Amino acid sequence: VTTATFFDTQYDELVESPNGLKWFMSMPLPDRRRISGLCHDKVREQKMWRSFFPSDTACATLAGKTVLDIGANDGYFSIAAALCGARQVTAINTDELNLGTYPSNIHFACKQWNVPVRIVVGDFVTVDARGETFDVIFCFGVLYHLENVFAAFKKLRTLLAPGGTIYVETQMTSLVVDRPVFEVASDTLPTTVPQYKNVIDSLGNSNFLLPNELALRSIADAYGLQLNWPGPNVWEEDYKTRKIYTLTAA
Ligand SMILES: C[S@@+](CC[C@H](N)C(=O)[O-])C[C@H]1O[C@@H](n2cnc3c(N)ncnc32)[C@H](O)[C@@H]1O
Repeated sequence: VTTATFFDTQYDELVESPNGLKWFMSMPLPDRRRISGLCHDKVREQKMWRSFFPSDTACATLAGKTVLDIGANDGYFSIAAALCGARQVTAINTDELNLGTYPSNIHFACKQWNVPVRIVVGDFVTVDARGETFDVIFCFGVLYHLENVFAAFKKLRTLLAPGGTIYVETQMTSLVVDRPVFEVASDTLPTTVPQYKNVIDSLGNSNFLLPNELALRSIADAYGLQLNWPGPNVWEEDYKTRKIYTLTAA
């Protein structure tokens, strides 16, 4: 087994749920089969990873670093960081959503790839981090699920180690406005995305606020962070309403 298999967009066969649970992510297995996730795009995770870390830059960037994967879900990005030589990887996700799949799925996947990931169940905004900071923070697909995005940015800043980087992936509003705005998601009014009101009490399931880039830049600025766009990438080419950014200390 080579770690290349994990990042490869090729696979031999799709399998449904080897552990009896639903999977949100499509998860590679060491035998080149792949667990079929909810998304029609079975190479979604590899595409996002390559957009953040083009041309195999991931290991140079992550080796020896401490990594926090916020909204880790089934664990693809936690395992990716561990396979790239991160010194320590911590995954955090609430346990209220995903049909009870967290942390069972991430435990299952880490075992397949034989990587040590510290798995935390909780809300990253309110969890007591006891002053711990991280060199690298992943915050993929999380921001627009938050009821209090201001508190989240404030917490992100306190979790970031000096010289560290936060990698952000998020749904954006489709509104074109030259002011910082967050669009409110709704099931009944015309908005960029549905809210999924039926699951609103399950933290992490519902869409709440869709930012434009100026909104992200402004709120980052309020908490001593700077928003950077890495340039054209395959992720944004394929997923037109989603963007990737990094946040660094201002
Ligand atoms: C759309 S999924 C994205 C999963 C994964 N990061 C990815 O990009 O494929 C959002 C995940 O973030 C989790 N989540 C939402 N709010 C959270 C919070 N406050 N703390 C921890 N996890 C949260 C959800 O439970 C869900 O697993």
